Amino acid sequence: MRIDVVTIFPEYLEPLNVSLVGKARARGQLDVRVHDLREWTHDRHHTVDDTPYGGGPGMVMKPEPWGEALDAVLASGAAAPDGTAAPDGVADGAGAEGGAADAGPVLVVPTPSGRPFTQRLAVELAAKPWLVFTPARYEGIDRRVIDEYGDRLDVREVSVGDYVLAGGEAPVLVMVEAVARLLPGVLGNAESHRDDSFAPGAMDGLLEGPVYTKPPEWRGRGIPEVLLSGHHGRIARWRRDQALARTSANRPDLIEGSDPAALDKHDRAA
Ligand code: ADE
Repeated sequence: MRIDVVTIFPEYLEPLNVSLVGKARARGQLDVRVHDLREWTHDRHHTVDDTPYGGGPGMVMKPEPWGEALDAVLASGAAAPDGTAAPDGVADGAGAEGGAADAGPVLVVPTPSGRPFTQRLAVELAAKPWLVFTPARYEGIDRRVIDEYGDRLDVREVSVGDYVLAGGEAPVLVMVEAVARLLPGVLGNAESHRDDSFAPGAMDGLLEGPVYTKPPEWRGRGIPEVLLSGHHGRIARWRRDQALARTSANRPDLIEGSDPAALDKHDRAA
C-alpha cells in the first residue's frame, strides 16, 4: 500500500518511522511519503492561510497550494510509460467497479466535521492500494479543494472523535496505524485482529474483556480460575461474558446495535 501525507508539519509524522508502521515501511509493505505543503507556495513567507470570506475567527487554508500539491502527488502515482510508477492496480484504472473514482487514490480529509473513523472504515481503507491524507490546520481547507477532487476521486471526510484537535496530523497517525496493522503480514499473528474490540466476528463488535499473563499471583491478586482450567468452552464463554459486561458498562450503545441471536450462537457452540 502507498500512503501520501501533505502537511505543513512533516515532522509531526515522524512517529510513522517507529514500531509497527516503521517496520512495515522497512519491510516494503508500506510506502509512506510525507510532503511539506509549503513547497507548493510561491511567496517569500510561504503563505498557506488567509482570512475567511464572510468573516469569523481563525484562518482558512488557501486552495492554491493544496491544488498544486495534490496534482503533484496524483501525477507521481500516474502510470509511467512502463507502468513502474503506479501503485499496484491504481493508475491503469483496472478497478473491478470501473469509473473515475476508482482510478486514483482514496483522499482522506481529517476534519471534526467528518464521518466517524471506525474499525469498519479502517478495514475498508486497508483494502485500497493508495491513500492520500490532507491534514489541515486552522479552521480547515477552502471547500473548493474538497469539491474539486471529489469530482475525480473517492474523497472521505473523516473525524477521529467528537472533540476538536489543533490539526489533522494526530488523526492521520491514528488512522494510518489502524489501517497498517490490518495489512497482510504486518501483524505477526494473523489471528490477533480477529478478537479486536469492534471487529465483527469472534466478539460480534463487543469490546474485548480483560487479559492476564504471568506471574499467577501479583500483589496478592490472582488469575480468574477459569483461565487456568484448560476448558476451552468455559474459557470462551467467560470471555464473552466479560466482553458483554465491559461493553454494557463502557459502551451500551454498541449492545443496542448488536444482534442478540449472534450473541447466543456462541453460547450454543461452547
Ligand atoms: N482535526 C481537528 N479535530 C479533528 C478530529 N476530531 N478528527 C479529525 N480531524 C480533526
